[in-house]
Amino acid sequence: MTARADHLHFDLTTLPQAARYKLVTGIVVPRPIAWVSTLDAAGHVNLAPYSFFNIMGSDPPVVAFAPGDRAPGIPKDTARNIPSGGDFTVNLVSRDLAETMNATATDFPAELGEPEHVGIALEPGVTVATPRVQGSPAALECREVQTVRIGNTRIILGEVLGVSIRADAVLDAGKQYVDTAALDLIGRMGGRGGYATTRDAFTIDRLTYAQWQERDGGEDSR
Ligand SMILES: Cc1cc2nc3c(=O)[nH]c(=O)nc-3n(C[C@H](O)[C@H](O)[C@H](O)COP(=O)(O)O)c2cc1C
Repeated sequence: MTARADHLHFDLTTLPQAARYKLVTGIVVPRPIAWVSTLDAAGHVNLAPYSFFNIMGSDPPVVAFAPGDRAPGIPKDTARNIPSGGDFTVNLVSRDLAETMNATATDFPAELGEPEHVGIALEPGVTVATPRVQGSPAALECREVQTVRIGNTRIILGEVLGVSIRADAVLDAGKQYVDTAALDLIGRMGGRGGYATTRDAFTIDRLTYAQWQERDGGEDSR
């Protein structure tokens, strides 16, 4: 570690994994949570949360999430259940589902499907075989397009084929306006068991260059 002015610099190429994890998850926040449902080879539903997750584009919409290994060389059930071209569904997590979502992060034996064991109702998928969580306010139905390995980091990239959104949170289905606040989604913060709600939101309008020049009636002073 070195100190420069008022910042401490950490060289992540030399620190142990646990230290790197604490540093990066402590500053990249809030992370949305992908509550991923998958089917195993026997058709049992698996459900687990992943906060190394985000949407990476919209043409086509692509999600990325990163299941680490349970033990060296042993993938978590979610990764094992998503073969090349395989289906999965990302259920988004509202505040009222936080504790239930957390229960599905328990390292249940693979043969005990979390939804059945924890008591979570499911709905069939529309464009994919994997079901969605009935109580989740929004779900993204995905198909794996590529899985990238960088060292021990595994990033699963999936094209989003369809989304299901709770009807009351769609303001105008024809114009695709979503009442995001009504979803009451949560995100993962740093530290042990830290979460944030999305209730403290604010808006900032984007400016055109002409508006930038006109702001406060002044000239461009850069
Ligand atoms: C909010 C939350 C976020 C998590 N994010 C990740 C993650 O991004 N990557 C990961 O490998 N594990 C993550 N976990 C831990 C997994 O959910 C946990 O290991 C789970 O048992 C994996 O289940 P599976 O084997 O059924 O896939 C997270 C847990 C919680 C509660």
